[in-house]
Amino acid sequence: MYARLIGTGSYLPGIPVCNDDLAARGIDTNDEWIVTRTGIRSRHLASHGSTSSELGLIAAQRALEMAGVSPADLDLIVVATSTPDYIFPSTACLIQAKLGNKGAAAFDVQAVCAGFTYALGIAEKFIRSGSHKKVLVIGAEVFSRILDWNDRGTCVLFGDGAGAVVLEASDRPGILATAMHADGSQNGILNVPGQICGGQVTGDPFLRMDGQAVFKFAVRVLADVATEVCQTAGIQTADVDWLIPHQANIRIIEATGKKLGIDRNKVIVTVDRHGNTSAASVPLALDEAVRDGRIQRGQKVLVEGVGGGFTWGAALLEF
Ligand code: UT7
Repeated sequence: MYARLIGTGSYLPGIPVCNDDLAARGIDTNDEWIVTRTGIRSRHLASHGSTSSELGLIAAQRALEMAGVSPADLDLIVVATSTPDYIFPSTACLIQAKLGNKGAAAFDVQAVCAGFTYALGIAEKFIRSGSHKKVLVIGAEVFSRILDWNDRGTCVLFGDGAGAVVLEASDRPGILATAMHADGSQNGILNVPGQICGGQVTGDPFLRMDGQAVFKFAVRVLADVATEVCQTAGIQTADVDWLIPHQANIRIIEATGKKLGIDRNKVIVTVDRHGNTSAASVPLALDEAVRDGRIQRGQKVLVEGVGGGFTWGAALLEF
């Protein structure tokens, strides 16, 4: 029994906001610095009041349409997000209600930029166990809400968006191997260390990051976890048809591809147009490459993510 991917969808809010637009808004930055250090040229930012469940709903509807699956047939909905609409209920329950599904299990996964790979791994295990047959997995984020727009070292890096996939139980190959890891001792290098207490936000409600520490950690674990899932599936990393790494920085993406011996033209890149959309980055890139025809049925696709926690994960799938 495999968890087979039968539909993908994504959604980006509004029009692209380019680097010069950010400088024009008064941020002390410039296009040359952002492009050279990160590869980011533009990103999408959700309008004020727009939420992860709104973005995730549209991505989900597009994935369900491609899969030819009615929302009523879903028996599990998993949403990866670090920017949920509410403390509770989960964004998964809100999307379930908007889809009109009743009765499916629905919950959120909080693993920041590794969230989608965690959610995919969880969904795969539900399907392989035989307990669930049709699963919707979504990565949805409005990171613009947790950015300190006075911190040029972080606010230029992130964007908003959502991506989704539909998985079904099948005897034809689908997800071949998954891996999930965490090292909580690294919680200090990337976090939003605030909380709500007595009706007030206490601590710091904005994203804080030690960029260089994150950079080094990311390159190491992205190479390690890609190698791990290939070994589990019994293939060489060079045999992967497409690598979809978390889209945070083109230098991290290129360093990871190089370490793995995967040719540059087999690596899907969206960071230039999306920025870092956290849990949405991998399903957004996957959907783009499926819809533009680069990813073909029967090909092997390796998706991987890394983020705050620290968390990291990967899935190798036959499309
Ligand atoms: O999902 C995982 C999350 N995050 C990541 O994967 C990010 C990983 N880290 C990175 O991508 C990089 O470390 C950054 C892009 C965040 C930063 O690049 P860097 O080469 O490590 O630069 P830096 O932080 O060492 O800053 C170098 C200089 C500093 O100026 P001084 O002190 O050398 O005068 C910064 O103040 O660049 C300055 N700087 C900027 N200048 C213009 C920092 N941000 C900006 C900016 N525009 N937006």
